[in-house]
Amino acid sequence: MPTLLRLDASAAAADSTSRSLTAAFAAAFAASPGNAVVNRDLHADPVPHLPHPQLHWAAPLRNGSAPDPANEARQEALIVELLAADVLVIGYPLYNYSLPSSLKAWIDHVHVPGRTAAAAGSGSPLAGRPAVLVVTRGGDYGPGALNEGRDLATPVLELVLGEEMGMDVSVVACQWTLAGNGSDREARLRRGERERAAALEAVRVLGSRLN
Ligand SMILES: Cc1cc2nc3c(=O)[nH]c(=O)nc-3n(C[C@H](O)[C@H](O)[C@H](O)COP(=O)(O)O)c2cc1C
Repeated sequence: MPTLLRLDASAAAADSTSRSLTAAFAAAFAASPGNAVVNRDLHADPVPHLPHPQLHWAAPLRNGSAPDPANEARQEALIVELLAADVLVIGYPLYNYSLPSSLKAWIDHVHVPGRTAAAAGSGSPLAGRPAVLVVTRGGDYGPGALNEGRDLATPVLELVLGEEMGMDVSVVACQWTLAGNGSDREARLRRGERERAAALEAVRVLGSRLN
């Protein structure tokens, strides 16, 4: 059964833009009969900080004191869940130009050279699998904007999921979600609405294409 793993990292619940976009992606994916969606809410059900440095490596590559078995078991469950997914979608807001810490903790658990990433001659079991990154940003990160190039979250995810783990990464960005209080507030609100409509269309198209 084709399976989507949907991750959400926003601290907002009902009115979260990124959650509404991953929900639309999941609905498009699930439109094909037999497709399944596994949801993991990294904010409501957080993964702890990586508790031991040796967990970064597959067991045969470790070189140090052994991690606690309970921590290994938690990590293994997250890895098995990822490996069982045919498609991954991650919704995350930009927080202080970076990833929500809940998502970083998940990445720290599942990026394991020799297990989920290539190492010492072995390839990645995730090579070629689609990963869709849905990022929401309050401000303007477009060409020429003050914040152009300052989304420091998405490049990390592209590097780890794409280059290290070999996944086929796509990005859907929705910005201008915060209108602010300036004199151009109405124009900014309209710009934000257009951004959101375009992102919604993009996730629906991607979700249908990957289902
Ligand atoms: C703690 C925190 C930090 C934020 N930092 C940024 C930031 O650095 N840049 C930005 O554009 N927006 C920032 N925002 C705004 C959110 O990224 C934006 O509102 C986003 O659309 C929220 O997505 P959501 O509705 O899915 O939670 C921040 C919001 C919070 C709560």
